[in-house]
Amino acid sequence: MKIISMRYSAVDTFCFVRKGVLLVLCVIAVQTNSASLKGSQAPPKSSTLRQAAEARHILIGTAAAPRYLDEADYSAILGSEFSDLEPENQMKFQIIHPRAGDDLNSYDYKPADALADFAQSHNMLLRGHTLVWHNQIPDWVKQGHYTESQLATILKNHIDRVVTHYASKVYAWDVVNEAFKDNGTMRDTVWYNQPGIGAGKGTQYIEQALRWAHQADPEAKLFYNDYDAEVVNKKSDAIYAMAKDFKQRGVPLDGIGFQTHISLQFDNPTTLASYAANLERFAKLGLELHITELDIRLADSSAASLAAEAKLYGQITTLCVQQPACKLVQTWGFTDKHSWIPQFYKGMGWALLWDDKYQKKPAYEAIREALAK
Ligand code: XIL
Repeated sequence: MKIISMRYSAVDTFCFVRKGVLLVLCVIAVQTNSASLKGSQAPPKSSTLRQAAEARHILIGTAAAPRYLDEADYSAILGSEFSDLEPENQMKFQIIHPRAGDDLNSYDYKPADALADFAQSHNMLLRGHTLVWHNQIPDWVKQGHYTESQLATILKNHIDRVVTHYASKVYAWDVVNEAFKDNGTMRDTVWYNQPGIGAGKGTQYIEQALRWAHQADPEAKLFYNDYDAEVVNKKSDAIYAMAKDFKQRGVPLDGIGFQTHISLQFDNPTTLASYAANLERFAKLGLELHITELDIRLADSSAASLAAEAKLYGQITTLCVQQPACKLVQTWGFTDKHSWIPQFYKGMGWALLWDDKYQKKPAYEAIREALAK
């Protein structure tokens, strides 16, 4: 018997040809990356971010929006390079629950469902964002003049409906987003104290939201997510104190999301060491850690800036690779064509891995290499 072996990138074809017999038996061995790339073996140059991340047993994700799925480049990259997808806006209260009430007509799941379907058909995990946040809330909530107990009912029903709708689809939820001020005190919001849901002082409304979410889907991992809490500072101290208290009392908190919207200033040894130390203290509480909204904004697109951006992307990825509790590196979009940065940070942009023509930037290779190291 003669064995002919052919190799096409990730596919091995073995053909067994028996002379004189009209039988050709071919076995196609598709390289499943998690199995074949484990351990110290570096991924081949041709591998995607997804394959490189799978070899490290972490997820590589991105925020996405359904209106771009029609762009061939957008959906091709999204569906092949990433193993995790998070709706950039479509699960936020304003979009998913635009009308007052709690019946079927009050909710609009279609935009988020389009992304859920895309994730499912591309074998990607779906991350939910976000149930309790002070931004992107509809007027009917903000201007409804509800009492605390009415607002509590509204929020409980909202969490219950949305989490139930995506039960078995969303593996992890940002239950509460950005509840702290930079100085570590609670942010004044409609859910906390304006008028609030009446759960009590401090982090009690966060605890309540986590308990409601856990009731709705006991399988989903529940996260607290925030920005500018990457390094050890007053905000991350406050989140740490909350997390420690929740873990001690059995409040269903599974992880912390570190948004990581940063600029090149973040690239200094003190800051990076502080990020590592911060991750480590949260890891010691038994929490899962996700980098949830990574982007690195630039003031120009010179070769030097793109190189500096790449270096920092690599360093942030390495922080996650080196921290066993860190399971996800997720960027806030993937192409500069559709990034929130130019609109929200005047004069800044070029924050993502592909440029506005869908060409890979140096940052892409830097992440791939950091995953492969
Ligand atoms: C941003 C989106 O990217 C924009 O499209 C939208 O207009 C505003 O919100 N922190 C978060 C994200 O948790 O939900 C925000 O997303 C960016 C900051």
